[in-house]
Amino acid sequence: MASRQKSELIIATDAQALAQAAAERLLARIRQAEARAAICLTGGSGPAQLYRLLATEPYRSSAPWERVHWFMGDDRFVPIDDPLSNMGTARRLFLDLVPAPPRNIHPIETETTSPDAAARAYETELKRFHGADRLDPGRPLFDLVLMGLGDDGHTASLFPHAAALDERERWVVGVKEAGLEPFLPRVTLTFPALASTREMLFLVGGHDKRQILTRVLSGDDLSEEDLPAGRARSNGDLIWLVDRAAAPEDRHAGSLVED
Ligand code: 6PG
Repeated sequence: MASRQKSELIIATDAQALAQAAAERLLARIRQAEARAAICLTGGSGPAQLYRLLATEPYRSSAPWERVHWFMGDDRFVPIDDPLSNMGTARRLFLDLVPAPPRNIHPIETETTSPDAAARAYETELKRFHGADRLDPGRPLFDLVLMGLGDDGHTASLFPHAAALDERERWVVGVKEAGLEPFLPRVTLTFPALASTREMLFLVGGHDKRQILTRVLSGDDLSEEDLPAGRARSNGDLIWLVDRAAAPEDRHAGSLVED
């Protein structure tokens, strides 16, 4: 197993402070981007409060929406107006409520023949946006990639023991079966594409996540467990932003793993 990357643990007091801290990091990355900024969002319940917050003041009026491009790290293979669509949810919670130009929103097109066809089309879209067919650690694809943590340790739609975890060439792949509910086919960015970012930001909140977060952060590579979130790497910073309810009991904010 590859050595772990040094990461930073930030502990927010509660769910509101967690969303606030995530919004501030997101805005900071957008402001640092030289011209346009590229943000890769995530699904699940974790980012909902952040998304709602971005649609309120001061963010709604002050964010430079016209120069931010929004992507999705994974999506369920359902139409965008389905309540289970990740991009559909992000649109309802904030993108449709702020002055984000529609051309800046890049959903995974799920109304096609198969998850694999959708994956190929999204990979083409990402390469076109990036202006290159290869990923270069010196010129990341994204400014910030938001990540969640599933109860089985999955992140994006990269489930334990799935072949997609070892993909090194493709940027996006189709996932026939999800390892966890909702049991829908998915489309997901691969680890190399997700790693191509100035900041990877895991957002984890609530007491229900404490056990899995403890296992992932312990980095116990000797266990039989496969915890994909623990395998995620970033070309830039790797941040675990968690609330107190989710934080492992023995952990304090700070640097996590020495490289
Ligand atoms: C998805 C997600 C997924 C999510 C985790 C955590 O489409 O399901 O992108 O990777 O981030 O499952 O989800 P919760 O926050 O709902 O537990």
